[in-house]
Amino acid sequence: MKIQIINGPNLNLLGKREEQIYGSQTFESYFENLKIKFKDITFSYFQSNIEGELINKIHEVGFEFDGIILNAGAYTHTSIGIGDAIAGVTTPVVEVHISNVYSRESYRHESKMAKHCKGVITGFGLDSYALAVLSF
Ligand code: DQA
Repeated sequence: MKIQIINGPNLNLLGKREEQIYGSQTFESYFENLKIKFKDITFSYFQSNIEGELINKIHEVGFEFDGIILNAGAYTHTSIGIGDAIAGVTTPVVEVHISNVYSRESYRHESKMAKHCKGVITGFGLDSYALAVLSF
């Protein structure tokens, strides 16, 4: 099984960004643990701060991979373009968030992509990604 993980803006700063919300582990270090935990899965990882690059990656893998795990960061709440990209591909997408977006500011309660996704996992720290893997 092939799973693509896509992280959006500011998630390259995990480990040093707002540690009280996002924790102190880098995504790269978590990703190594994930690959050990799910040995039979082939993972690919992509991060970009640029909306169009996230859309291009969804198009690139979205007819071929078995699943996409997407944390679109702040674009979750604003990007109709990423929502349309998810709707336009055949690979199922799971939306994930490290923090519980519903316990935060009201502008984080809306997602422009959730309705196009297989499901949404929010609030379990970096283990939101492991829980998403279990859904495929
Ligand atoms: C986030 C939640 C978003 O609201 C925020 O803009 C992020 C990270 C999360 O993983 O908790 O950048 O997607």
